Amino acid sequence: METLLLKNTEEDLNTAAELIRRGEIVGIPTETVYGLGADAANENAVRNIFSAKGRPADNPLIVHLSDFSEAEKFTEEIPALAYRLAERFCPGPLTMVLRKNDRIPMVTSGGLDTVGIRIPSHPVMHRIIELSGCPIAAPSANISGYPSPTSAMHVIKDMSGKIAAVVDGGQSEFGVESTVISFEGENGVRILRPGCVTKNMLLEICESVVIDPAILNDLAEGEKAASPGMKYKHYSPKADIIMIESDLESFTEYVKAHGGDEVFSLIYTGDEKYFPYRNMTYGGNSSEQAHLIFQRLRELDEIGAEKVYVRAPSSEGVGLAVYNRLIRAAGFEVIRI
Ligand code: TXA
Ligand code: MG
Repeated sequence: METLLLKNTEEDLNTAAELIRRGEIVGIPTETVYGLGADAANENAVRNIFSAKGRPADNPLIVHLSDFSEAEKFTEEIPALAYRLAERFCPGPLTMVLRKNDRIPMVTSGGLDTVGIRIPSHPVMHRIIELSGCPIAAPSANISGYPSPTSAMHVIKDMSGKIAAVVDGGQSEFGVESTVISFEGENGVRILRPGCVTKNMLLEICESVVIDPAILNDLAEGEKAASPGMKYKHYSPKADIIMIESDLESFTEYVKAHGGDEVFSLIYTGDEKYFPYRNMTYGGNSSEQAHLIFQRLRELDEIGAEKVYVRAPSSEGVGLAVYNRLIRAAGFEVIRI
């Protein structure tokens, strides 16, 4: 099939919405990363998302709605805390895991009796949901296991010929996927995947916020994942990524002793003035790093980097999301100096 490249015009968004109503898959911009959107209630369309990505069938899709009040149509027993969180964080980069009802097919939820609900703030995604009238199931629009796409060109690269269309809505604002949470007790949540809604932001509304251990550690053999996505190798470019947790001085020493210009280094913006080896920079603070990380991982593949030392980001605030993506890209290979 030929993949249409659509623009952010009302006419093109109508085309995208019509394709989704007909059961096709469309690449759609969101404020986090680009998604592969299809009608969440159409089992065939959802099956096609899994095959376009090469995604394991037990890894559930997030369902995107235009307003949190719509969640009542697709879920049961929404906790009072969810409404308070929605008031503060929706629309935006937060996904809440709730009990689903029959309107969400089992294929969409990867066989679980829960569903992740997100209200995206990107005007293009928002308009397509409105125009289609469908709940939109959308995983990140990358081939399964590869870094998530933050531009329409990334989606074309992974999905051309496999999906009906891609809508170009510019560079993704946040650059990492939404924060995924589940509910614990009356006033607590558990972060299953860190994103730009941080633990401290959640603590403004919740009494307790637990960071699931699988965010920073590899699951032990046979251990059950709270979120199926945590089982799989993720965000990995072809290059071998090794994360080094240290200050710039020790990082430089390490690179000098282990390859120098033979390897590639991914360092903070600002570090390059003091770092004499082949490098790429990925931002000078956590928000910039979130915005750039997936793009840089893709660029490293384009230039054919085989081995990459990454100066580990801070794991505070939004940094936790960047740290989590990188530690997975590195297959949990971290050197602490
Ligand atoms: O920002 C985002 O969330 C992007 C954009 C497109 O909205 N979507 C996205 O979807 O990142 P995906 O499928 O690439 O990642 C969804 C993650 C997976 O790790 C999945 O296991 C987890 O959320 N998840 C989805 N539904 C869940 C559920 N019911 N229970 C636990 N984890 C769930
Ligand atoms: Mg993904």
